[in-house]
Amino acid sequence: MKILSGIQPSGKLHIGNYFGMMRPMINNMDRGELYAFIVNLHALTSVTDSKALAQDTLEAAADFLALGLDPERCIFWVQSDVPEVTELTWILSTLTPIGLLERCHSYKDKVAKGIAASHGLFSYPVLMAADILLYQADLVPVGKDQKQHLEVARDIAIKFNNNYGETFVVPEAAIADDVATVPGLDGQKMSKSYGNTIGIFLDAKSLKKRVMAIVTDAAPVEAPKDPDKCNLYNIFKLFAPADRLKEVHDLYVNGGAAYGYLKLELVDLLWEYFRPAREKREQLSADPGYLRQVLAKGADKAREKASVTLDQVLDKVGLKY
Ligand code: ADP
Ligand code: TRP
Repeated sequence: MKILSGIQPSGKLHIGNYFGMMRPMINNMDRGELYAFIVNLHALTSVTDSKALAQDTLEAAADFLALGLDPERCIFWVQSDVPEVTELTWILSTLTPIGLLERCHSYKDKVAKGIAASHGLFSYPVLMAADILLYQADLVPVGKDQKQHLEVARDIAIKFNNNYGETFVVPEAAIADDVATVPGLDGQKMSKSYGNTIGIFLDAKSLKKRVMAIVTDAAPVEAPKDPDKCNLYNIFKLFAPADRLKEVHDLYVNGGAAYGYLKLELVDLLWEYFRPAREKREQLSADPGYLRQVLAKGADKAREKASVTLDQVLDKVGLKY
């Protein structure tokens, strides 16, 4: 089984990214062949600062490795180092109905938030389909917001197979129910573009500031509260050990949950949870040469796989003469 997912190098990693995509990828390292990559071509649709993009690409590599991705047990690379993907994107785009892309919420949301409505942003899902189909991935671990993009990839694969004969594996999204959408400080989906994130590698002071900013209601401590409706609880439960979570759950239901204290406890939980990764990340960031070497090795392995699929595709569509 081939498991594949990518992340944009477009800012600091947050706990939504971790639970939605990185953790499932890292936990899947031994379930099959794992393909993990940094999608810098996708990031070009929203990042215009070239220095930041280059820097964030290395940062994203450090993040992934620090959190436990082992480059010896997977293929780990930067998207643009495998140019086959852009060639496949063009071929797939010729059989992608415009209507399919027009229905994508992500495009509409991004434009509504002020990102320029470029052709690249519009055809983003076709590049993502090429990412997935090029490596014949079976399973794609992502957060719920990517479900529609996975459906586009499936539709394109099916259409190609119908037109040209069995070529692509039709991929499935793997979306973990319990962490499908990690809430942000304000209770909306945690997202860089909403400014409501808790970064994984914040320094101690900034981390505390973010956690203290989690929005809660004005109910008094002694009032019974519904934990599932509380944003703080929904983040707390991702990090607390089971026995402590049960105690806190009871405090909510019976009265006695003090938001201020729980927030301070959450700061400590977060700090400890990511401590080993934070330490490893410091070492990795100090050694960009090592990161580049890992990524170059990964790109070689990825290109080898990609060229097999692209070769078949070129033949099927009539570009070999
Ligand atoms: P953002 O919304 O912050 O820009 P990305 O779009 O770069 O995040 O997402 C990278 C990966 O993390 C995707 O697989 C996405 O589904 C997942 N992800 C992002 N935010 C969340 C969240 N709040 N809950 C669960 N998964 C998330
Ligand atoms: N669109 C994804 C996101 O914003 C990133 C991505 C690009 C991706 N290509 C992919 C995810 C292929 C999974 C598989 O998070």
